[in-house]
Amino acid sequence: MKSILFVCLGNICRSPLAEGIARKMFEQRGLHVKLDSAGTGSWHIGEAPCPDSIKVAKLHDIDISSLRARQVCLKDEKKFDFIIAMDENNRKDLLALGIKNPLKLGDFGFKGEDVPDPYYYKDFEGFEKIFQMISTSLDVFIEKKYYL
Ligand code: 4NP
Repeated sequence: MKSILFVCLGNICRSPLAEGIARKMFEQRGLHVKLDSAGTGSWHIGEAPCPDSIKVAKLHDIDISSLRARQVCLKDEKKFDFIIAMDENNRKDLLALGIKNPLKLGDFGFKGEDVPDPYYYKDFEGFEKIFQMISTSLDVFIEKKYYL
């Protein structure tokens, strides 16, 4: 079974959302892929996803409320076939950790654009944009069979 780890900074906004969206998309296609998410930082270890990520996921019939944040580590390289960062800073932090081939989600359908960090967003609208960007990128990732 193939495996994918999604990585952002805190593992409370973007990457748990990507994990939840990916789970639904793979399940809908009857594909079995191991999925997880992690943060490059340690501030939020053990925390649930941020309320707006839980909310936007729920609006799309996805429950991410039971996920808990953890920090990425070098051992993850051996455990996952694909490690996919949400933005360029995350990708650089993964390289600095020694992970050799981190991908970036925006490379699939968004010409390498970053999935923006929503932590300081004051409105909910940004979370819907992030949801759409993650969904579209994952759709390209799956339809072009990058996961094989
Ligand atoms: P995430 O968002 O990387 O999408 O989970 C953030 C969460 C927390 C912080 C930054 C971004 N923070 O600085 O604590």
